[in-house]
Amino acid sequence: MKAIISFIAVLALAAIAYAGVAMGNMQYLFGVVIPYLAVATFVIFMILRVLKWGSSPNPFRIPTTCGQQKSLPWIKHSKLENPSNVLGVAGRMALEVLFFRSLFRNLKLQTHQGSQLAYGEAKWLWAAGMAFHWSFLIILIRHLRFFTEQVPASVKLAEGLDSFLQIGTPLLYITDVVLLAAVFYLFLRRIGIPQMRYISLVNDYFPLFVILGIGLTGVLMRYFYKADIVSVKMLAMGLVGFNPSVPQGIGPLFYVHLFLICTLFAYFPFSKLVHMGGVFLSPTRVLANTSRVKRHVNPWNYPVHVHTYEEYENDFRAKMKDAGLPVEKE
Ligand code: HEM
Repeated sequence: MKAIISFIAVLALAAIAYAGVAMGNMQYLFGVVIPYLAVATFVIFMILRVLKWGSSPNPFRIPTTCGQQKSLPWIKHSKLENPSNVLGVAGRMALEVLFFRSLFRNLKLQTHQGSQLAYGEAKWLWAAGMAFHWSFLIILIRHLRFFTEQVPASVKLAEGLDSFLQIGTPLLYITDVVLLAAVFYLFLRRIGIPQMRYISLVNDYFPLFVILGIGLTGVLMRYFYKADIVSVKMLAMGLVGFNPSVPQGIGPLFYVHLFLICTLFAYFPFSKLVHMGGVFLSPTRVLANTSRVKRHVNPWNYPVHVHTYEEYENDFRAKMKDAGLPVEKE
């Protein structure tokens, strides 16, 4: 049901953009006003999110670790699993962000030989996650050609590598196929595994359908119903140069693509997708484990009157001796 609600919501969004442009001639609204509003929403609310995260008190070192802490010289230190300095943290973060290292260790609890519980390999989620995120990034890099006067060499290189199979005209991009397949797998996993279906919310399905919609409309524009790329580039350049104009001749399919992208951008700061920024601000990941080397004192500790054992013994020494209790000072 939740999947159906999300699917209908995305279908409705696509229909709104299509009808708005095809019947209502609202190119300026969908091509200029909404993109600016979406980017402004993204920027403002992401900044607010980061400020909120930044203002959370975090006086102690709380990194998650799974290896030997830096200790005595003859005990082997696990530099990546338990980083003791910025370099170690940077290495661990790079492996996490670029290769989803912690997800690679994902395990599945299953029954084995009858009733015996055992942990098994579970790499499909990692593989689909990697495939999805990397293809998304490469597609974004390739799209830079719409936003730059001279297409940068790195973008051309990405295009060349991505289409190296030389299939069809226009050349098939590997990332198009991989992105759609990976997102579809992530959706099937949610509805196919009963436990996953049980915990999945509208907010889990919605981004999947939006991204699927963006990918499908993009693929349709590239391979089936060609968009006027020159006009699209004029529109894109106008938008980034804050001198927007809407060229004629861009079909409604492009505006559906753009509207779904705007939806994704505006929705981003309020959704689980903020993990993109959150991973860099997560104290359990970005702190080095210096909890033994350095004494971390809670800065808002108020002075507490303590009664030391020494004082206690001074107060009760005579009574303690009478009761036969051992004392430290005679
Ligand atoms: C979240 C951002 C975006 C994603 C994930 C995305 C995804 C895609 C995909 C998968 C394709 C299929 C062909 C290809 O891979 O190049 C495509 C094509 C296309 N996209 Fe996007 N897109 C995004 C943003 C944009 C933006 C901002 C524009 C507007 C300037 C745009 C305009 C186009 C056009 C015109 C095509 C057809 C390209 C061609 O015919 O070669 N896209 N998009």
